[in-house]
Amino acid sequence: MGGAVSAGEDNDDLIDNLKEAQYIRTEKVEQAFRAIDRGDYYLDGYRDSAYKDLAWKHGNIHLSAPCIYSEVMEALKLQPGLSFLNLGSGTGYLSTMVGLIIGPFGVNHGVELHTDVVEYAREKLDEFIKNSDSFDKFEFCEPVFVVGNCLEISTDSHQYDRIYCGAGVQKEQENYMKVLLKVGGILVMPIEDQLTQIIRTGQSTWESKNILAVSFASLAQQNRADGEKPDTVHLPPVTVRSLQDLSRIYIRRTLRSLAGEEGGRGSLQRVPQKRKRRRCRRRRINTYVFVGNQLIPQMVESEEEEHTEEEQKEVEEVEEEEDRDIGDIEILKQVNVLREQIMSLPLPEALKAYLLYYREK
Ligand SMILES: C[S@@+](CC[C@H](N)C(=O)[O-])C[C@H]1O[C@@H](n2cnc3c(N)ncnc32)[C@H](O)[C@@H]1O
Repeated sequence: MGGAVSAGEDNDDLIDNLKEAQYIRTEKVEQAFRAIDRGDYYLDGYRDSAYKDLAWKHGNIHLSAPCIYSEVMEALKLQPGLSFLNLGSGTGYLSTMVGLIIGPFGVNHGVELHTDVVEYAREKLDEFIKNSDSFDKFEFCEPVFVVGNCLEISTDSHQYDRIYCGAGVQKEQENYMKVLLKVGGILVMPIEDQLTQIIRTGQSTWESKNILAVSFASLAQQNRADGEKPDTVHLPPVTVRSLQDLSRIYIRRTLRSLAGEEGGRGSLQRVPQKRKRRRCRRRRINTYVFVGNQLIPQMVESEEEEHTEEEQKEVEEVEEEEDRDIGDIEILKQVNVLREQIMSLPLPEALKAYLLYYREK
């Protein structure tokens, strides 16, 4: 499934294409997609495929196509403070994007069948928190993943404002999913080859809308003979943030907005979009036309990709120039205003490290 938009050279390119094709329609969804590099969720050696609009599967690791994630993120209508449950949370790519929108006062839970996939998702989350500059540009609701079959969630589980199911749901499983939703909540799932948005309008009323024709692998059924996983899945508890956590959130928020008022650049500014490199250049070629019975040489504009040695050199010089421009843009992007603000505070180093979430860069 996928291939609806052309392949990009990097994450920004991919998002430009998804936007152009109207899969991404709102600014907050665009920002979340730009903040998380899809390539970071691929195994080493496969990253080049990450910017194509295609699903990817390797062993138990499975990512859906970017056009599907865009539709899902738009259909969920996410807001700060909402609770989110991801059924079949996989690598945690989608849950991490959701965490950037629902923010620190949201709830972000995921259930995944395979233990190795949950370990992979936790590693990826750790890398995101430690290394990504995006982490400092947003307020974040860290996803919590549990191993288990999402068709076996304990019946006394709490309900959620938003739910996504990342694998195909059978018609007879529909009600099971719907009751996990709070009244007013939104569930997005693939059912009968349609990505469907379901809104719970009352205690026993729901409204459904088909969003996109899709083809998903089905949810793994309950398998009581399989001794690896427990029968009943207990979702993580919904906890209140500690005073220490709250202090960090509010100090970081205040510093971010102060930096914004001072016209701080970098993390608080919209990152300029990378210019696309032109692939063909116009070149002048000689040709001859008949005027009466005479052959007259003419200079004609033509688009060609083959170049003489001299022209090739010129092309390379232009490309180098463009690369330098792109380099400048990326340097701008890497200025981490929040980090600079925290580092300049007259505070003990241990407290600064705490405010920085012990991030490595
Ligand atoms: C297409 S992937 C979802 C990927 C995920 N959205 C991401 O961001 O990486 C579907 C996932 O559902 C999981 N899955 C399938 N059946 C399941 C079940 N019954 N319970 C829990 N997870 C299940 C698969 O192991 C797989 O990781």
